[in-house]
Amino acid sequence: MTDPAAQDPARSRPGYEDETAERLVAPAALRNAGPIAGMLAEVLADEAGPLLEIGAGSGQHAVAGARALPRMTWIPSDPDPVHLRSIRAWRTHEGLANLAEPMRIDATDDWSAATALTHGPLRAVFCANVIHIAPWRVAEGIVAGAARALGEGGRLILYGPFLETAGAAPSNLAFDRALQERDPEWGVRPLADVVALAALHRLTLERRIEMPANNLALVFAR
Ligand SMILES: C[S@@+](CC[C@H](N)C(=O)[O-])C[C@H]1O[C@@H](n2cnc3c(N)ncnc32)[C@H](O)[C@@H]1O
Repeated sequence: MTDPAAQDPARSRPGYEDETAERLVAPAALRNAGPIAGMLAEVLADEAGPLLEIGAGSGQHAVAGARALPRMTWIPSDPDPVHLRSIRAWRTHEGLANLAEPMRIDATDDWSAATALTHGPLRAVFCANVIHIAPWRVAEGIVAGAARALGEGGRLILYGPFLETAGAAPSNLAFDRALQERDPEWGVRPLADVVALAALHRLTLERRIEMPANNLALVFAR
């Protein structure tokens, strides 16, 4: 008999190793959480204070990131109740003192006031694998909110695939087509568009870091 929880959208999400588990495990996060945490430890080596993660998904990056950045408080967020449940379960399981209770944040809302109230000015906003699997207005909400929520010198760090004018990776072009077939509002974002959006909010591209599997980490400074 099929597990009813597996069919209940309020309790499960497809794409995880066990869709009904409390602590969700995304195969992609098993592969990239280590390199991402290493990149963050290097970029934010001199930082202490609050880091907000947008679209934290299962919570695997929150665990790896909180471990890699012991002087920062890692605040995971997601709009999805199934993901929030998974993040809470990972938090309880790992017992990391610097991993905060997750916040329910939809990036298209004006979320910066909520983080300011709970945590004050942020030192970093991190977001992995969200802006290509969401309408462009989600990218706009992340960047606009980060510009408001970050303190002076704070960083916005975006991780994922991007399209670059010169030498776009064939795998990213194919991924872009597949995303747009699923939803015309989705798509791998041109790097130039993301940099222009950030500039509108006075966030400057500080570093472009090549990551495994044709992904990039983009570091913007306020
Ligand atoms: C592909 S998953 C990536 C999860 C995680 N960051 C990772 O890399 O494993 C995309 C995430 O974006 C979240 N998301 C979708 N729309 C969003 C929005 N409007 N605001 C914030 N997060 C959103 C989803 O709930 C999901 O957790």
